[in-house]
Amino acid sequence: MSVSQDKRDLLRGADLADAEAIAVLQRASFDDPWSAESVRRLLDGPANLSLVAEDGGVVGFLIGQCVVDTAEVLAVAVDDDRRRAGWGAALLAGFEAVAAASGADRVLLDVASDNAAAEALYRSRGYETVARRDRYYAAGRPSPVDALVMVKILSA
Ligand SMILES: CC(C)(COP(=O)(O)OP(=O)(O)OC[C@H]1O[C@@H](n2cnc3c(N)ncnc32)[C@H](O)[C@@H]1OP(=O)(O)O)[C@@H](O)C(=O)NCCC(=O)NCCS
Repeated sequence: MSVSQDKRDLLRGADLADAEAIAVLQRASFDDPWSAESVRRLLDGPANLSLVAEDGGVVGFLIGQCVVDTAEVLAVAVDDDRRRAGWGAALLAGFEAVAAASGADRVLLDVASDNAAAEALYRSRGYETVARRDRYYAAGRPSPVDALVMVKILSA
């Protein structure tokens, strides 16, 4: 799918000052949110390549890393009121670009098998399921669900 250049232009690298805004979005989006301190540690790590989308405040984030030739999306979320407007796709596209520039030739991620919105987003960006982790996500569910491990090979 094509990604809006206007939205790509509103992405920037996440810095430590964004940790609280990211934690707020985490709490609104996930059953097992990370604390602002955990977010800060990730943003401060040597492999960090995280992004935020800013449009009158932080409307979305992607926490990602790159180690050697593999980049990984650890979490991505968009403000509930701003979903289905292309921010998630823009964040992924932006991450793929910075990951490729850092030497990654693939992006790896996990998604809960009951997270239809995220799986649809990843498929729309060309990610394919390569493995499953059995009963991997438990938080907020009556019984654990599998994780789908998805990969996108970045073209040179
Ligand atoms: C998953 C998430 C990040 C998607 O963000 P978004 O900004 O709404 O996504 P986009 O608007 O860029 O959608 C891009 C494409 O993904 C697919 N998609 C996104 N949300 C979808 C939904 N609820 N149902 C079906 N398809 C969906 C569609 O193909 C969409 O393209 P379209 O709108 O032209 O049909 C957002 O729903 C979210 O924050 N969810 C909670 C956090 C989460 O589950 N994160 C993923 C696990 S870490």
